[in-house]
Amino acid sequence: MHFDILTLFPGLFAGAFDESIIKRARESGSITIALHNIRDYAAGRHQVTDDTPYGGGGGMIMKPDPIFAATEAVLGEQATAVPIILLTPGGRLFRQSVARELSRHNRLLLICGRYEGVDERVHQYLATDEISIGDYVLSGGEIAAMVIVDAVTRLLPGVLGDPSATFEDSHAEGLLEYPHYTRPPTFRGHPVPKVLLSGHHAEITRWRRQQALRRTWERRPDILASAHLTEQDLAYLQQLQGTG
Ligand code: ADE
Repeated sequence: MHFDILTLFPGLFAGAFDESIIKRARESGSITIALHNIRDYAAGRHQVTDDTPYGGGGGMIMKPDPIFAATEAVLGEQATAVPIILLTPGGRLFRQSVARELSRHNRLLLICGRYEGVDERVHQYLATDEISIGDYVLSGGEIAAMVIVDAVTRLLPGVLGDPSATFEDSHAEGLLEYPHYTRPPTFRGHPVPKVLLSGHHAEITRWRRQQALRRTWERRPDILASAHLTEQDLAYLQQLQGTG
């Protein structure tokens, strides 16, 4: 997977891309990342990238021409094959299913907006997708781009040591993840649930499934409706509803 990231602040990405999983994925060649400074594509001696809004009002708007120029220069011949994703709080919500969908491409271009907004012509005539990472407003799309690179990269084959790791993640199956424990067996008076020490694999699997169901029911009832549930799951949920 190749990521092109268009930003006014390439320095923000140092650290996030230079440690841990992303670092290793880059070193092994699973991913490549190219940061492109939008300012380099702005015309004139001052390389201006923003301007005041037509119609008045506060704040500055990112000009369309440097963003179009940067995208066209970076993509060249590939301009139609690569998703051009604008990070914006007005985009479709980023979820695990979107990460999975993006991971099937071999190249993504991410455009990070800044200031009060981006000229509408970028939304309408350049971007092929608009993504928001949540219902809050960040100072720019850079952190959202890091989130997408991270979530997509860990889904690529060979990036995580244990392929079942992404399988069991929260959200992978439409449920939150069950709780995890490691040594010591009792910590500050709080014991590890007995079943996990029992060695009964079937019991452990059942307990984990029920914990995932209970957590999702308690914390994220909104996602429960679209989860893949078995008859047994439904029976357990009914039992929970009965006990309140
Ligand atoms: N830019 C500002 N806020 C954002 C958000 N929530 N998601 C994506 N990009 C953004």
